[in-house]
Order: sequence, then structure tokens, then C-alpha cells
Amino acid sequence: MALTGLIWYGFLVGHLVGNLQLLAGDGGVAFDDYAAFLEASAALVVPTEVILLLALVLHIYAAVSLSREARAARPVGYRELRTVGGRSVASRTMIYSGLVIVVFLAQHIFNFKYGDRVDGSLFALVDTTFGQPLWAGFYMFAMIVLGFHLWHALRSAFQTLGLSARPTLRRLSILLSVLIAGGFALIPAAMFVGG
Ligand code: HEM
Repeated sequence: MALTGLIWYGFLVGHLVGNLQLLAGDGGVAFDDYAAFLEASAALVVPTEVILLLALVLHIYAAVSLSREARAARPVGYRELRTVGGRSVASRTMIYSGLVIVVFLAQHIFNFKYGDRVDGSLFALVDTTFGQPLWAGFYMFAMIVLGFHLWHALRSAFQTLGLSARPTLRRLSILLSVLIAGGFALIPAAMFVGG
């Protein structure tokens, strides 16, 4: 789970940096140049897509196996659920946040990667999408869910390494999740307000 999650983490950082060009305020020139560069870089993009797809499938497989094992280890449910030993809102809702992200991802790729560009411009497609309150709202909601998912993901990774008790790392998990999810959420918010 950790390795496949980490692969997606790396992609998210790169994707966020690339997408922040949407907010450059230049009418989409920098972003459309970047999109054209990616289109011309099949040798880079195609292997990345294959790795991401494989990582996603393995990540979901591991998540389902883990939750089955956990249920088999405790066939009788807990009488009372309490927040103890590092359990958080995120940790209890991991499987649900994961489901929301998968649904988000399916529509996201359908809409932006395969959607009809407006006058050939990917920037214009994104801008038109985020000009609509429902789409901007849906994206912001999905990014908040993503933030919770990333937060717990980091906590779990630190726990696996035996480092979970360190307050600095706990704060770092929150900071990174807020930076990534907040950075992504800023895009639909700013384009809705500005557009
Ligand atoms: C506001 C947030 C986001 C924006 C504006 C955005 C924008 C885009 C755009 C414009 C594309 C099409 C790129 C192209 O065809 O060249 C794209 C593709 C993609 N996005 Fe996002 N994205 C956002 C968030 C996310 C998130 C959170 C994830 C993952 C959870 C994600 C995963 C992907 C993937 C996997 C692709 C396909 C990449 C490929 O096949 O080359 N995106 N995104």
C-alpha cells in the first residue's frame, strides 16, 4: 500500500505544480504550452500512465485485502467505537474517501483528458468547467476528501516506520496534506471567482 501510494503522491506533487500554471493570469498561454509539451512527450507520459494505473489497481487490491483481513480478525463488531491509539476521522473513513477519489478520478480523466477542448485549448476547457458552480463545488469537495485521505496515508506510512508518535511528523502529515489538497482546491476556487 505504502509504495503504490507513494507513487501517486509523487504524481500529485508534479500534477499540482503543472496545474498551478492555470492561475498564471496569462489567458492560459503557459498552461496550453505545458499541455502541448506533455502531448509531444509520449515517451515520458505513456510509461507514467501505465505505472499509475498499475499502482492504482494494486493500491485498491491491497486496501480491499486489508479490510477483509481486519474484518476476519474481528468477525464480531466492536460494541462501542472510540477514538483511541491514533485513530482519526480520516483513518475510519479511509475506504470511503478512497471510493470518492476513484469516482472523482474516473470523471476527471473522462472530462479533462478526453473531453472536447474549447477552441483547441485545454485551458479554456478547464476554465469553462470551473466557471460552473456545480463543477467548481464538486472539485473543491473532492479535494477536501483527498486531503483527509493523504493525511491518514502519511500517518500510516510513519506508523509503519515506527515513527508515528513524533509530534513533528504528525504536524508534517497535516501540513503536506493541506498544502497539496489546498493547492488543488485553490484552482477551481480561483477560476470560479475570477472567471
Ligand atoms: C483542481 C484540481 C485538478 C486539475 C485542475 C487537474 C487538471 C487536469 C488536466 C487539465 C488534465 C488533462 C491533461 C492532459 O490531457 O494533458 C488532467 C489529467 C489527469 N489528472 Fe488531474 N487535475 C486536478 C486534480 C487531480 C487529482 C487530485 C488527481 C489524482 C487524484 C488527478 C489525476 C489526473 C490523472 C491521472 C490525469 C491523466 C494523466 C495522463 O493520463 O496523462 N488530477 N488533470
